[in-house]
Amino acid sequence: MIAYNKQNHTIKLDTPNTSYVLGVREGGFLLNLYYGRRLPDDNLWSLAKRLPSASFSPCDPEHTDFSADVAPMEYPTNGRGDFRAAALSVRNADGNTVTDLRYVSHRVIAGKPDLPGLPQLYVTDDAQCETLEVTLRDPYTGVEAVLVYTAFCDCDVIAKHVRLTNRGEQAVTLERALSSCLDLPSMGFDLITLWGRHTKERQFERRPLAHGLQGIRSKRGASSHSHNPFAALVQTGATETTGEVYGFNLVYSGNFVITAEVDHDATTRVVMGIDPEDFGWLLAPGESFATPEAVHVFSAEGLGGMSRVFHRCYDAHLIRGRWQTEKRPLLINSWEAAYFDFDTDKLISFAERAKELGIEMLVMDDGWFGKRNDDTNSLGDWFVNEKKLDLGRLIDSVHGMGLKFGIWYEPEMISPDSELYRTHPDWCVHVPGRAPSVARQQYVLDVSRPDVRENIFGQMRGVLGRYPIDYVKWDFNRNLSEAGSALLPADRSGEFFHRFVLGTYALQDRLIRGFPHLLLENCSGGGGRFDPGMLYYSPQIWTSDNTDPIDRLSIQFGTSLCYPASVMGAHVSASRRAGYRTKGDVALWGTFGYELDPNKLNGEEREIVKEQVAQYHKYYALIRSGSLYRLICPWNNDYVCAWSFVAEDKREALVTVVRMRRQDDTLFHLKLQGLDPDTIYTVEETGERYSGALLMFAGLEMTDSAWDDGESCKLHLIADGAAEPGVPA
Ligand code: GLA
Repeated sequence: MIAYNKQNHTIKLDTPNTSYVLGVREGGFLLNLYYGRRLPDDNLWSLAKRLPSASFSPCDPEHTDFSADVAPMEYPTNGRGDFRAAALSVRNADGNTVTDLRYVSHRVIAGKPDLPGLPQLYVTDDAQCETLEVTLRDPYTGVEAVLVYTAFCDCDVIAKHVRLTNRGEQAVTLERALSSCLDLPSMGFDLITLWGRHTKERQFERRPLAHGLQGIRSKRGASSHSHNPFAALVQTGATETTGEVYGFNLVYSGNFVITAEVDHDATTRVVMGIDPEDFGWLLAPGESFATPEAVHVFSAEGLGGMSRVFHRCYDAHLIRGRWQTEKRPLLINSWEAAYFDFDTDKLISFAERAKELGIEMLVMDDGWFGKRNDDTNSLGDWFVNEKKLDLGRLIDSVHGMGLKFGIWYEPEMISPDSELYRTHPDWCVHVPGRAPSVARQQYVLDVSRPDVRENIFGQMRGVLGRYPIDYVKWDFNRNLSEAGSALLPADRSGEFFHRFVLGTYALQDRLIRGFPHLLLENCSGGGGRFDPGMLYYSPQIWTSDNTDPIDRLSIQFGTSLCYPASVMGAHVSASRRAGYRTKGDVALWGTFGYELDPNKLNGEEREIVKEQVAQYHKYYALIRSGSLYRLICPWNNDYVCAWSFVAEDKREALVTVVRMRRQDDTLFHLKLQGLDPDTIYTVEETGERYSGALLMFAGLEMTDSAWDDGESCKLHLIADGAAEPGVPA
């Protein structure tokens, strides 16, 4: 898996279908020789022959045939002749930022060591991966970088992070400490990213690379609605099913940057990590700093191939706890049903109706605490509003019906109108001399402070320890401005954003350790913090506040580029643009549930909901453990979408097609993917039987005239292999 060739001084990391090769050049320069399809060779020096050709490429004084300006650098630094984006820039005690890392040693270990305090991919058995640690050091400042790589045996994933330690005698400041760099010898790629906003998250965007810098970032203190910490570089012309694709995802929930830079030689450098703007980390002698982990996927099978690698990896190596495998309860959430307007009896009536429909959990959303009846107050006052609610009676009655019970929190926030703020005005995120900005009438609570975390956790424990609560929805409804903490001295103020994120992780970690039975669902005004960092703590995230099934298609398709079905919160609501069948078919993709007042459903709608509940159970295993194939994507057309889940053994598949907008009586053939060409499948709904080959290479004929705007259909394929294809049973 990870092999060192002493003669060539190369280190080769193999996953089942990919190779990643490092080389240590004379002088101790660590280069990236190759990343792509798996290769048998380990001497790849022929791929890094580029020499400095002009006086404009500064050379190392002792190795005048080497310039970092033209070399594929594995962890490039600032100020030593590499003019592309650096991964590391350290302001040393002399005041300059020149940094020069040279190879010292490396070691290979079984398994994957812990990355304390940060979310990370994990293994349950050391045999599932190997880890390489390469130690580099700057001889002048004593700054040491340990580059840590894990190559997985069961998926084509390489995880990387960096541990920086000050081994010198004087304090230094990390001004840029990124998680990873990848230098590719071509610019023949398109960059794919996921942009968005509130109610329109993770929209697919594809652009050809151009010379210079291009990329995405967040400065919002959260990974954000605006850009997901994901990017893919796809070979020009690559499609959903063909071509080479590199996928990048940062396991982090705060400020980030991912850039692709094309230089004058038409090579491409991708770097990713914490956004250096608004970042600075003081490292006193002996202190260390660990970057967040970056996940790298390479697939030669197009975007779909890349996504399926991410999905398998995250289901197996990111999602933790009992809910990794246990069936998630089908829930109904009170938000769109009642907003702040509820009391004990109203919620009991929701539970009674829900029970009749087969729903398994009632979630009480915002509005149960302090004196909260609208969004102007009480965040931070996490005690039950007893004027509004008898929580004990509510939970007894919900549990008595056999339903589980869940509750909403927004722990990192504080309302100016709250008891907490009146007692501790200093606890909100702020800087001296400036009044904090408000957003949704709230401030952000400074969870970088241990005393603040202690208070919030104590309040949560007060409720969760007293009442038998099964689920928590953890919300985060604004971004950070005037980002500072009363506890941080001026020379550490650049640490605030990262310390805030570490504070959130510490709180969530404590919550799930203290209450291991809890199902935690993250949320941030829908999907404003939908990232692998949050998924390490919560096995599902509310995908978007937009529950319109047609809008949801582009959101869910975009989200699926790197996040599996098991993590995508998807509910049927009372939204009007499509009927209940379509709403159910779209929500079935994710962690299914309802977001409506069940008392308001008419008889026909109630029957549809009962059918949907039955289908949720019928298809649960297939959707959770099957592979996703995006068949017709919303970014390629605006009238039809289709996707399927195919069982691992290819014996079963569920195909869903949604007509977004009708075209004039057009006809199309829906070509399936991922089936066994030699197996005969029966379409359960029609009884027709076809070979996998026909379904994939010729397709199923679909006529437009049979459908109206916003309608959907599902086809359940079951392998039987018994009879002649094409003959109705
Ligand atoms: C956010 C969430 C919603 C709901 C409200 C409550 O917007 O995304 O689902 O919980 O907060 O205030």
